[in-house]
Amino acid sequence: MESSVSMDTLVSLCKRRGFIYQSSEIYGGLSSAWDYGPMGVELKNRVQKYWWREMTQFHDNIVGLDASILMHPRVWEASGHVENFTDPLVDCRKCKQRFRADQIPEENIRSHTCPECGGELTDPRQFNLMFKTHLGPLENDGSAVYLRPETAQGIYVNFKNVVQTARMRVPFGIAQVGKAFRNEITTKNFIFRTCEFEQMEMQFFVHPSEDEQYFEQWKQERYDFYRKMGIRDSRLRLHQHGPDELAHYAKIAFDIEYEFPFGWKELEGIHNRTDYDLSRHMEYSKKDLSYLDDLRGGERYIPYVIETSAGLTRTVLTVLADAYDEEEVEGEKRVVMRLHPELAPITVGVFPLVKKDGLAELAREVQQDLRRDFAAFYDQGGAIGRRYRRQDEIGTPFGVTIDYQSKEDHTVTLRYRDTMEQVRVPIAELPDRIRRAIAEYRRVE
Ligand code: GAP
Repeated sequence: MESSVSMDTLVSLCKRRGFIYQSSEIYGGLSSAWDYGPMGVELKNRVQKYWWREMTQFHDNIVGLDASILMHPRVWEASGHVENFTDPLVDCRKCKQRFRADQIPEENIRSHTCPECGGELTDPRQFNLMFKTHLGPLENDGSAVYLRPETAQGIYVNFKNVVQTARMRVPFGIAQVGKAFRNEITTKNFIFRTCEFEQMEMQFFVHPSEDEQYFEQWKQERYDFYRKMGIRDSRLRLHQHGPDELAHYAKIAFDIEYEFPFGWKELEGIHNRTDYDLSRHMEYSKKDLSYLDDLRGGERYIPYVIETSAGLTRTVLTVLADAYDEEEVEGEKRVVMRLHPELAPITVGVFPLVKKDGLAELAREVQQDLRRDFAAFYDQGGAIGRRYRRQDEIGTPFGVTIDYQSKEDHTVTLRYRDTMEQVRVPIAELPDRIRRAIAEYRRVE
């Protein structure tokens, strides 16, 4: 049975279990900024690692990069962000709320009435989403720089460096994960849309004649990625951009969408950006970014770019929303996060049935052994059932319980989070059993 979690329930679980906290909470909070707690940072790191492995380790022709957040201001002129990266903004003169003009009913724009309080709305004006700051002690126009609104440009401006120093031949890709900043007019729905977020982007450089073939390949691979990560197929779909949605640089674009508790929304964008970016950077930097293809008889051309651009923090929200499940067990509600074992912050909980009679010591030994390979957490506090439930709520896929029999025959019970099945296993076999269960994991729908 599929269940859908409400945002209130999810936000409250995230706080209660140390996944995500409101930023600067003790000062009343900073709107739409969030901090990742002990469980949240583990989950986010694991999602990032999963993506990185998938995109770099599993592909001979994709390499990584970590470019700086601050870049030369001309980058953003070349990219089109200074001119085009704007949203239409309207203000209500009465309640002082701000709206994106394209996100409220047209009727309100036409009649200049606020959708919230009925007050008078201003005319729409274009608002640039880039955060501006200053490099050095002087705040003048010459020192203005931007916090990057996407990681992609750091890749394009390093295209030549990577070709020359990593000996990459087209077709090849460059992958990057990092922070991006956008002064969003409306931020809501928890970590879905925030002003500071993280992206996982891969730019794949191809011969112009092969753009469509690689676009199709990446669209499929990226869709399959989410299913592999354990996201339910029924909550994923592809959406093709219509002519009015296409970005100024795109020939064709698809979004991978997820059905969040607040509706179907973009999770990742796949764009055919043609030679737009490299051409623009050639024009603005006056440097030659064309590519000499010795595999094509010395043909010189500007490669096309197939971009896969995912939000890391948005993927974390997807993973959390998709994992949440409730069921009734022996007359009580069990909340369980059905996280893929490779993403769960803790892989295995280790519990002595009771603290006394040497069981705690033996359990500690088991934990010490397991932590060489897995994130292993030791817990001796409270009734065993409550300890299981605490781990279920943070999505720990395996539990190991040490009881009196363990002292006699060196076996323990291994409990599986999803089915709650418990099997007796020799301690020496635990690592292999857990490794196999991770490799064979399938989400129960
Ligand atoms: N380089 C292309 C690019 O940045 P985008 O569609 O604007 O394209 C890509 O962003 C992804 O980044 C989105 O699909 C989303 O997952 C994430 N993203 C964009 N804006 C975001 C925001 N304000 N908060 C959280 N994630 C965001």
